[in-house]
Amino acid sequence: MTLDLLIRNATFPWRGQFVKGNIAVRSGKIVKLFRGSCTETAERVINAENRVVLPGLIDVHVHLRDLEQSYKEDYHTGTCAAAAGGITTVLDMPNTRPKTDSAEVLKFKKKLAQGKAMVNVGFFSLFPSRIDEIPKIIEEGAVAFKVYPQDPESWLTGSLPDRLKSASKFGKPVAVHPEEKVKDEYNTIQQFLQVHSINIEFSAVIRYTLAAERAQCHLHLCHITSKRTVEYIRTLKASYPRVSCEVTPHHLLLTRKHIEEKGSLLKVLPPLRENEDLESLWLALNQGIIDVIASDHAPHQKSEKEKSISDASPGFPGLETTLSLMLTQVNAGRISLKRLVEVLSENPAKIFKIKSKGKIEEGYDADLTIIDLKAKGKINPDSFYSKAKYSPFEGWTVKGKPITTIVNGVVVMEHGEIIAPKGAGSVLTT
Ligand code: DOR
Ligand code: ZN
Ligand code: ZN
Repeated sequence: MTLDLLIRNATFPWRGQFVKGNIAVRSGKIVKLFRGSCTETAERVINAENRVVLPGLIDVHVHLRDLEQSYKEDYHTGTCAAAAGGITTVLDMPNTRPKTDSAEVLKFKKKLAQGKAMVNVGFFSLFPSRIDEIPKIIEEGAVAFKVYPQDPESWLTGSLPDRLKSASKFGKPVAVHPEEKVKDEYNTIQQFLQVHSINIEFSAVIRYTLAAERAQCHLHLCHITSKRTVEYIRTLKASYPRVSCEVTPHHLLLTRKHIEEKGSLLKVLPPLRENEDLESLWLALNQGIIDVIASDHAPHQKSEKEKSISDASPGFPGLETTLSLMLTQVNAGRISLKRLVEVLSENPAKIFKIKSKGKIEEGYDADLTIIDLKAKGKINPDSFYSKAKYSPFEGWTVKGKPITTIVNGVVVMEHGEIIAPKGAGSVLTT
């Protein structure tokens, strides 16, 4: 058997436990898993002794921007950042300029991304104003739909139920930014936190989940932040299992104290919360109530962040910090590596129906992230591939990092360097 790539002496998760063996790759696929010894040869052999090989990470919440906002990030820089962070698939959010709300825009985005992407890229779409555009958007390959509080097609107009039903009919999940529409009037950080309070999240979660239940669609709640929301989802899941939710590393690791200390750079929507919220997020994550960790990579120019709290843009980059931050938590005993694989690879593939990804199995795509659990480092935004060279985690010490990122059998990143040609990634069409 001629192989393109053979990863030897790998420890990897397989059917619920970590096993030791060799992973054989040909034509972008995992063709064979060998337990014990293996006499195969390959064009490229990687010795993964003392490393762990994970199914490539899938980040379901990424703002790659590009188009009219390519000054913030573009498909190349954003996906280089993903590969540098050990992420092999990203789902791009539709709040772009122009908006992603038609088959035409989606087609244009796919074409543009094809030549620039370093990892697999799937696209969200907004709901279109004309309901008959929905099948066309799906035909063009949208992975899922996304609803924002300010959307004209949000539940406020009364048109949401039909759109949820339509998404459900086509088997597409609907993701929501769970905040009510608010008047963004504030001058201080305290006022900002008050305007975007946990009540605003909670009441949006209630409305969206009720609407989803009525339409019998799969609802994915993005970046949940509060204890109250977590407790509600815990009960809801018992009666309506077609709901999933995600949490970001920043909502797991930072509180309002951090934004009060550092100011607008840490402005993000939804905002950072209290310690007791963090505790409940961690508990829910470990108990399986929270299904996914996603970065909500939201790059802006530094100058757009260095403004008053009311004028600063919300969000910050996350692709290059998520995995290291979370491996540090594995080392600290706060989450198991097994659970991390579920929330960073397996569940994202399941929820968003991304075929042949999220697991290390024969026949699956050769998307693999090789990590060193013991490697120590410091978060240094100057070294980011993202155009957004700042981070709320700047200077944090981490233990555990990605060493090699393999996308469809191609080694894209090694020791922090992007080594594959531009466009080595691919566009997902489900
Ligand atoms: O902080 C945020 N930034 N939250 C969002 O919902 C949008 C995002 C962005 O696009 O910048
Ligand atoms: Zn959001
Ligand atoms: Zn977002």
